[in-house]
Amino acid sequence: MSITITAPGRVNLIGEHTDYNGGWVLPAALAVSLSVTLAPRSGDQISVTADVFGGQVRRRLNDAAAGHWSDPAVGALREANTLGLLTGGADLSITSTIPAGSGLSSSAALIVAILKAARGIAGSDISDTAIAVAARRVENDYIGVPCGIMDQMAVAVAAPGEAMALDTATLDYRVVSLPRSHSMAVIHSGHTRQLTDGRYAARKEECDAAKAVFATNDLCQLIPEEIEALVRIDPVLKRRTRHCATEHRRVLAAVEALEAGHIDGFGQLMIGSHASMRDDFDITIPPIDALVSDAVQFGAAGARMTGGGFGGCIVACVECGIREEWQAQLLAAHPRARFIDAVDARIAPS
Ligand code: GLA
Repeated sequence: MSITITAPGRVNLIGEHTDYNGGWVLPAALAVSLSVTLAPRSGDQISVTADVFGGQVRRRLNDAAAGHWSDPAVGALREANTLGLLTGGADLSITSTIPAGSGLSSSAALIVAILKAARGIAGSDISDTAIAVAARRVENDYIGVPCGIMDQMAVAVAAPGEAMALDTATLDYRVVSLPRSHSMAVIHSGHTRQLTDGRYAARKEECDAAKAVFATNDLCQLIPEEIEALVRIDPVLKRRTRHCATEHRRVLAAVEALEAGHIDGFGQLMIGSHASMRDDFDITIPPIDALVSDAVQFGAAGARMTGGGFGGCIVACVECGIREEWQAQLLAAHPRARFIDAVDARIAPS
């Protein structure tokens, strides 16, 4: 018996590095996706075939993470065993249109797809939210990436063409409709990055240090004026904290703006978010700053880097009528950049 499950990539419209600091995020599912066919096997052997990642590899269930592209698959199968969805290894066959290293959550999609396939095999009724929480455990505890819950929730739960306003402290979420007049274009900068390269973890450690200073687990809930008033704090930690608190407020304001149909206001919040990631959180890189700046210059209502940072994609909110011309101009000015996908309200389920 085998089961095939497809999970989407995700783009985050606004709210970066808030998901492990008690704040909100606003991701959306993409059309680019990853599919896994899972066939259980007895014993602890695992075989993973994925031409997009590097061919075929054989692993075992009790293998430690090895910095290998197949680690998310091994971790997901171990988690499926822990949850009682499988008893043993599996043959996995993977295809994907989500570019790896682009910040569009190919790793979360792989883990979630495997867990959902195992759920199908077991005939279990474990919820999508529980699958997302289990998928995060694989990243945190097996692979060793101290990520938040945004990617796993977006990939496991969100539907195409609409955004998900997610409170990462409670996992409560609501669906936010996107304007039909605009499209959220995802453009790859041509600069890839890995969450496992240590820079994401460095930001997480700085946030943990700031949490100790402010005696809170939820940096996002601090009042920006109170952060500014504190003088006896390392200036770097102060900037990191300022990003978390202001970014969380930008997400809340962005949800309000979208719900009220104020696209220009939403665009300005995207621009503010990018500046905060660049100046306070230090996770952008010059070619991405230039791409974002030109995206706005050429007519987008707003644009920002999306995802963990240090490379990957930008997302821009662009009026449908000028989208093609805008894109041609942007790609001509940035030869390494390429169009990946667009979140389009016109394909949202009714
Ligand atoms: C990565 C992580 C997420 C989140 C973003 C930044 O995608 O996996 O948990 O922290 O970076 O917002």
